[in-house]
Amino acid sequence: MKPGKHNNGAADDALGLLKADHDKVKALFDAFDAVKGKDDENHRKAELVEQICDELTVHIMLEEELVYPLLRAAIDDDELLDEADIEHAGARELIAQLEIMAPGDDHYDATVTVLGEEMAHHIEKEESELFDAARGAGIDLHDLAAQLAARKDELEADLLSPPTTIDAMAPHAGARRQPRAPN
Ligand SMILES: [Fe+2]
Repeated sequence: MKPGKHNNGAADDALGLLKADHDKVKALFDAFDAVKGKDDENHRKAELVEQICDELTVHIMLEEELVYPLLRAAIDDDELLDEADIEHAGARELIAQLEIMAPGDDHYDATVTVLGEEMAHHIEKEESELFDAARGAGIDLHDLAAQLAARKDELEADLLSPPTTIDAMAPHAGARRQPRAPN
């Protein structure tokens, strides 16, 4: 697909798309910070945490599928990428915990806060060291941007479809056709 076709980030440059994702996640953590510790904000907290988990899940998959392998091949710094992998694994662990927690649960706010702190550190490192490495490695960032945008659309469609589209009680329009009569 051609770059620029998608709305997932304003830039056609891969680093611009990743930065836009990072900024969005950081803004969501800031918004959570504003309601942290407030028991009457449980609805808002749940809404924010769902968005944080969705955004991060898609973003981490994109980076691991498309960005990290490219960088690993292009730059001679396995240590940097190994550390990034472990930081992603840590984020996945906390996301998995949050997905089975609800606001008001013991350690709920702390789990979100720690995830936010760890992601802030991870993002800072990516935007400095990894982005610099990517720029210096001669990677085609426009081509990568097109791949990222297309894959993001797919992942969002697969992972984040609103549950209202899967209403088991509704008569479903996509009924299987009758088996075709033999010729
Ligand atoms: Fe990352």
